[in-house]
Amino acid sequence: MQNNWLERSRKVLLDGCSTFSKRVDAYVENVYASHVLSGDGSYLTMCDGTRLLDTVGGLGSNLLKRHNNYSMEPIETILLAESLLKRIPYHHKLKYTMNGSDACSAAVRYARAYTGREQVYYSGYHGADNVFISSTPPAAGCVQEKCHKFETMDKLIEYAESGAKAAAYIVEPLELETPGLRERLVALRKACDKSKSLLVYDEVITGWRVPKFTVGNWMGIHPDITVMGKAIGGGYPLAVVLVTDEIASHTPGVFISHTFAANQCSLTHALHTVFTVTEDMIDEAWGAGEIFKNQANSIDPGLFQLKGYPTRFVWECPTDTAKALLWQEMYKRGILVGAAFFPCLEWSYIEYNIILAKLENSVAAIRKGAVLEGIPARPAFKRT
Ligand SMILES: Cc1ncc(COP(=O)(O)O)c(C=O)c1O
Repeated sequence: MQNNWLERSRKVLLDGCSTFSKRVDAYVENVYASHVLSGDGSYLTMCDGTRLLDTVGGLGSNLLKRHNNYSMEPIETILLAESLLKRIPYHHKLKYTMNGSDACSAAVRYARAYTGREQVYYSGYHGADNVFISSTPPAAGCVQEKCHKFETMDKLIEYAESGAKAAAYIVEPLELETPGLRERLVALRKACDKSKSLLVYDEVITGWRVPKFTVGNWMGIHPDITVMGKAIGGGYPLAVVLVTDEIASHTPGVFISHTFAANQCSLTHALHTVFTVTEDMIDEAWGAGEIFKNQANSIDPGLFQLKGYPTRFVWECPTDTAKALLWQEMYKRGILVGAAFFPCLEWSYIEYNIILAKLENSVAAIRKGAVLEGIPARPAFKRT
């Protein structure tokens, strides 16, 4: 049983673990059980049934008895990895991180280690780490990186097609609208293959929100590395970077390890999410979102339109003031509206109809002369 878990962990997890200090070979392999089955305060039950009083204290994170960050890897790291990889068969191994930013930075590290190149080109947003933020002024406090941002995916593709070699080209494969998506991804895949650059899909937002779980599956155009976060953690901090066996076997020495990478809380909620959300559930939400979008967009096209795909929208209004006014009126009617609009997969016609009714009421109030009482949303930074 013990060996089974160890073997399985080495099959699906990069380095066979999530946190280097929690792996069995950091203790006494062949004596210690490899994984934790369950934990109860300072007491652990290992995968072979051994009960232990834990003196390692979750690598220093368990201050009180009720604190429960295991000091060795829990079996859920394996169960979740197996479940994710079963659904994303073009990847073979993964690493857990705590958030999308860590995972995107990890993707860059794997790409650089695999290709022996430094340059990275990207479009879209890939988190708050130095590697990406250094190329988006003001970038205060960042140091220069060999990582360059393109304003649009099309400009990035054009550059890739010029033959520029890179460690990686990184995109959010589906930003908001779908037309031409497959053709763009085919073009980028071809360009990357030609220059032997890795293609990275940042599916931090799209993971588990699009048909077949990922854009890579859905479109059938596969990246070399995928990053996912947000929804797969079930509302708790968890992200993953997924790679192919080819990349895994040629990137020894990449150090990605966090005390909380395989924390019980996030893993439990992620497993619940992955077991609960089926392809059918996403397809149904996709259909419902499409109908909702069409109904919403017919209410008052001069005042607002929802743009995006059926499980992710943004509000488009003629001016920032008009948008703030619409949000204000919705807020007054009990609906929290903001820059992002992510429908819940479990919403039924009840929630959608409530939102539609409140939109109609808000629009009527605005047409009758409601005025803005606050300050429109503004960006955190004025970017140059
Ligand atoms: C596409 C994308 N990648 C990466 C990130 C960074 O994730 P996190 O905020 O969890 O660090 C985000 C966050 O919004 C994102 O939208």
